[in-house]
Order: sequence, then structure tokens, then C-alpha cells
Amino acid sequence: MRILSGIQPSGTLHIGNYFGMMKPSVEMQNNGEAFFFIADYHSLTTLPDPSELRKRVFNVALDFLACGLDPAKALIFRQSDVPEVTELAWILNCITPIGLLERAHSYKDKVAKGFSPNTGLFAYPVLMAADILIYKSHVVPVGKDQKQHLEITRDIAIKFNQQYGKDVFVIPEERIREEVAVVPGLDGQKMSKSYNNTIEIFGKEKEIRSKVMKVVTDSKGLEDIKDPSTCNIVALYKLFASPEQVKEMEDKYRAGNYGYGHAKQALFEVIWEYFAPYRKRREELLADPSYIESVLKTSAEKARAVAAKTMDEVRQTVGLR
Ligand code: ADP
Ligand code: TRP
Repeated sequence: MRILSGIQPSGTLHIGNYFGMMKPSVEMQNNGEAFFFIADYHSLTTLPDPSELRKRVFNVALDFLACGLDPAKALIFRQSDVPEVTELAWILNCITPIGLLERAHSYKDKVAKGFSPNTGLFAYPVLMAADILIYKSHVVPVGKDQKQHLEITRDIAIKFNQQYGKDVFVIPEERIREEVAVVPGLDGQKMSKSYNNTIEIFGKEKEIRSKVMKVVTDSKGLEDIKDPSTCNIVALYKLFASPEQVKEMEDKYRAGNYGYGHAKQALFEVIWEYFAPYRKRREELLADPSYIESVLKTSAEKARAVAAKTMDEVRQTVGLR
């Protein structure tokens, strides 16, 4: 079984990204043949800054390797190191009805927010379909926000196979990560870069501490009895602490004489400790950036061999050979 997922290099990774996407992606490497790529072609639709793009791609690779992605088990590569994917996207563009793309929520949302869309943004789901189909992926684990893109991929694959009367493409199974809860941000809304409420995975000690101190709570005083079930500190604490530690904190809330300042200190400590081994690994990796490059390159070569084979079949099928 081939499992594939991709991420846009859209900025510094936060703990919402970690629990929502990185951790499940890293776990994927134990469940099948895992292909993981950094969607830099997709980023060009919204990020026209070459040095920033290069920096972000490198950092995503670094952070994933630091957080446990094992190049001996899984591939991690740059999307653009397999340029065949853009050729496939073109061929798929030629069978994709415009109406299918006009209905895409993520496109409509960006336009509604006043974004002036380029053609790449409009055709974004077709490139994503090419990413998935070129590797004949069976399973594509994504967050809920990507559900419609996956449906579009399936529609395109089915249409292609029917139109040419040949099962060239595997119809990928959608696997929405329902089990992954939405990680709340400092203000209790979904943690997101766009809401400015994030805690970065690899932030400096002082930064993380000061962010944790900003977690929004109600205004109960030190002696007051508090409700752990509605508290944002507890919700975050649960992601990092053991069940015993969580129970201990909940008991203290109910007993009174335990202030939000104490709870925040405990939260900071578990976060800091949780990422300690990853920080250490990240430092080691940073000492030799050429290692990261070599992992990306070796992975891309393997992925490219799979893509080249699919493309031979596709070109033959559509009459380009
Ligand atoms: P952001 O909202 O900060 O811009 P992205 O949209 O780039 O984050 O998300 C990248 C990945 O991380 C997606 O797979 C998304 O589902 C996941 N993710 C982002 N924020 C959260 C969150 N608060 N809780 C769970 N998963 C999240
Ligand atoms: N659109 C995805 C996101 O923003 C990233 C992505 C691009 C992707 N191509 C993909 C995810 C193929 C899964 C499979 O999160």
C-alpha cells in the first residue's frame, strides 16, 4: 500500500500543525510505503519570494526529520524535484471541466477574502490530483480542509480512466483524519498562523514561555474553584501530559487554591519537555545542512522513477507517443 501526503511550506510550524499533520504523517511511515513531499509548486500560487520559498522548504524538511521522519522508512522530497508532475497536471487540465474547479471552496474562500487569483491558484486542485495520481497512491491522509480536493482528484482519475478506456490511475482512497482534534490556539480559536495565536514547536524557551502565559482564561482568582472542562490551558495540557498528570491538574482545579499562573507554568514545562528530544535532533541536523539536501535528493530520485513510469503509460495512452 502506498501512502502519500504533502504539505505547503507556508511558514514556521506550530503545535496545531504538529498534532494535526506532522505526527500522523510520521506515524504513516510504519503503515506502508510512505511518500511525503513539500509542495513548493503549490506555494508559488501565493508566495512570489524566491529566498523565502527556499528557506521554508529547507525548514519543513529539517523540522520533519527532527520530529521523527525516518528516511530509511519514508521518502521526503521536494515536489519540484519531480517536474513530471507538471506535465501530468497539464494533461489532466485538458480533461478537467472548469465547473469542477469553480466549485472548489478553498479557491472561492481566497477570492472572497479579496485575493486576486492567478491561474495557478484556480488550477491548484489539478496539480494536487497530479501529485497523487502520478505515484499511484492508494491512501492519502489529509485534514478536513483538503477533503474536497481529494474528491476532485477522484473525479479526475475516474474521468481519465473512462475517457481512455484504460485503468491507468489508481482511484485513491480518502482518509480524513477525523480522529485529530482541532488544536486550540492561545485565544481558544483554532490555532492558526492567520489568527496570530500559535505556539511554535521550535520556538526559543523565552518565546514559548511568554506565549503560554498569554493563554486566555476566565478571570477567576487564585482561591476560586475552577472548571477544567472549559479551560484552554487544560485542553492544551492534555496533548502533552500523561493521563495521571492531567488528572492531577483537574483535581487541583476543582480543589481551589490553584491559580491559572500555576497551570500555565505546568503547561510550559510539559511542552518544553515534550519537544526536547526533537530540539536536540534538530540541532544535530542543523550542524550538517548537506545531509538534509542529500535526503531530499535521494528521496526525489526514488519518487521520480515511479513518476517516470506512470508518465510513459500516460503519454502512450493519450497519444503523445
Ligand atoms: P495554518 O492554519 O496555521 O495556516 P495550515 O493551513 O498551513 O496551517 O495547515 C497545515 C496542516 O496542519 C494541515 O494539514 C492542517 O490540517 C493542520 N493544522 C493546522 N492547524 C491545525 C490545528 N489548529 N489543529 C489541527 N490541525 C491543524
Ligand atoms: N493542498 C495541501 C495542503 O494545503 C498540500 C498538498 C498538495 C497535498 N498536494 C497534495 C496533500 C497531495 C496531499 C496530497 O495541505
